[in-house]
Amino acid sequence: MEIRSSELGRQVGENVTVKGWLFNKRSSGPIAFFEIRDGFGWVSAVINKNDVSLTVWENAEKLTQESSLIVTGIVAKHPKKENVFELQVSDIQILQLAKDFPISKKEHGPDFLMDNRHLWLRSKSQWAILRVRDAIITAINGYLHDQGFIKVDSPIFTPNACEGTTTLFAVPYFDLGTAYLSQSGQLYIEAAIASVGRCYDFGPVFRAEKSKTKRHLTEFWMMDAEAAFVEHDQNLQIQEGLVRHVIRHCLTNCAQELVILERDVEKLKKADAPFVRYTYDEAIQKLAELGSDIKHGEDLGNDDEVLLTKNSDVPIFIEKWPKEIKPFYMKLDPANPNRALNDDLIATEGAGELIGGSQREEDVDVLIERMKHEGLNRADYEWYLDLRRYGAVPHSGFGIGLERAVRWITGVEHIRETIPFPRTISRLKP
Ligand code: 4AD
Ligand code: MG
Repeated sequence: MEIRSSELGRQVGENVTVKGWLFNKRSSGPIAFFEIRDGFGWVSAVINKNDVSLTVWENAEKLTQESSLIVTGIVAKHPKKENVFELQVSDIQILQLAKDFPISKKEHGPDFLMDNRHLWLRSKSQWAILRVRDAIITAINGYLHDQGFIKVDSPIFTPNACEGTTTLFAVPYFDLGTAYLSQSGQLYIEAAIASVGRCYDFGPVFRAEKSKTKRHLTEFWMMDAEAAFVEHDQNLQIQEGLVRHVIRHCLTNCAQELVILERDVEKLKKADAPFVRYTYDEAIQKLAELGSDIKHGEDLGNDDEVLLTKNSDVPIFIEKWPKEIKPFYMKLDPANPNRALNDDLIATEGAGELIGGSQREEDVDVLIERMKHEGLNRADYEWYLDLRRYGAVPHSGFGIGLERAVRWITGVEHIRETIPFPRTISRLKP
C-alpha cells in the first residue's frame, strides 16, 4: 500500500510503500538509516543488512543525497521515542541516482543558495516556508469569502500607473505602444464592485523599486480587496479581521512548519488581539519621543516602523496620512482635507508594513484635480473616472503584500526566502 509520510502513525505493523527523495543517510556497520522526503514530510527508514537481499543492501550503499527512490517496508514504532515511527525496509527501488548534490549539510552563503534556489527549495526550512505561504493564501481566500468577497482577476499588462509613475516596468506592446506591468489591480477591482459588491484579486504585481532591502521584491504577490459601501473605519475592521484570521489559521495548520522555522509562536498568539491605532500625526509625535529624526510630512522609513512597533504585541495601524505623500485615489478626510482617509498596517517584531489601504475618492472633479496635480495623463484614466460618473458610492479597499505576510508569520529574516523564485534588482535567475 502506497502511503504518505503524514499517515505513518496510522499504519503500524502494515507493509507500505513510500516514494520520495533521499534527504539524509548514515550507517553504522550492517545498519543504514535513511531520512526520506516524500513531499508531505519525512520518513525514517532502517535497512538491516541481515534482513534484506544483497541487491537491496547494495542499493542502500549506493544511494546518494537527493536520489529518487521507492522503499517498501513494515511501519514500526520508534524503539525509544514516543509518537515517532520508522520503516523497516524490505525493498528499495532506485529511480535515479543523484551525483554530487551541490547543497550539502555544511553552511552555504546566501548567494550560493539563491543561485541554487531550484534545489534549495528541498531543504526543511524552505519546505516549511512554502507550506506557510500556501496556508496564508488559503486563509486569505477563506476569510474574504466569509465576508462576501469574490475573486475577480485584474490584468497584468496595463496602460497606466496605479501607485505612481516612478516604479513602473515598461514593456513594448505591439502597435499600441507601451504597456506597464501592474503595480496593483486596485483600479480594476474598483470597477468590479459596481457589479459584485465586494471583490478581490490575488496575483503577481511589479515594482521597479531600486530599494535593496530585506523587504522589497520587484515581483511580488498582492491581494487587493475592494468593497462598496464600506468606509474608512469598517475598512480597518476588515483588515484587522483578515490578519487575525491569518494568524489563527497558521497557528492551527502549520504547527510543524513553525517548529522547523523555530518561530516563537507565543508572539504570534499575542498579536491576535485588538490592534493599536495611531493617526499619522500621533505616530510622528511618538517617533520623536522615541528618538527618531523623522520630520512631519515624511514617509516612515524601515527604522521608524521598527521603532514604533518595538514595544507593541499587536500590529499598529497608522491612519490619516498627509495627502502629499499618498496616491491620487485616496479620499480626503472631510474633517481635515490635508489628510487622506487611509491606513498603513505595521506588523510586529520589525516586520514592517503589511497592508496599505484607504477609502477611495468618489467625486469625479476632486479626482481630476488630484490627477492633474500628480501629472497623470487624464486620457489613460477616463474609464476609471466613469466609475464616478455612473453610480459612485462610498467604497474602500486595501492591499496586502503576500511575501511581507509570509516573512512576518515565518519570522524569516529576508523576503527573498518567502517566494519560490524571488526577483530583486540584482536577481533574475534561476
Ligand atoms: O502600499 P501599497 O503600495 O498599496 C497599493 O498598491 C494599493 N493599491 C493597495 C490597495 O489599496 N488595493 O502596496 C500594498 C502592500 C504593502 O503594504 C506591502 O505589504 C506590499 O504591498 N509591497 C511590497 N512587497 C514586497 N516588495 C515590494 N517592493 C512591495 N511594495 C509593496
Ligand atoms: Mg504602502
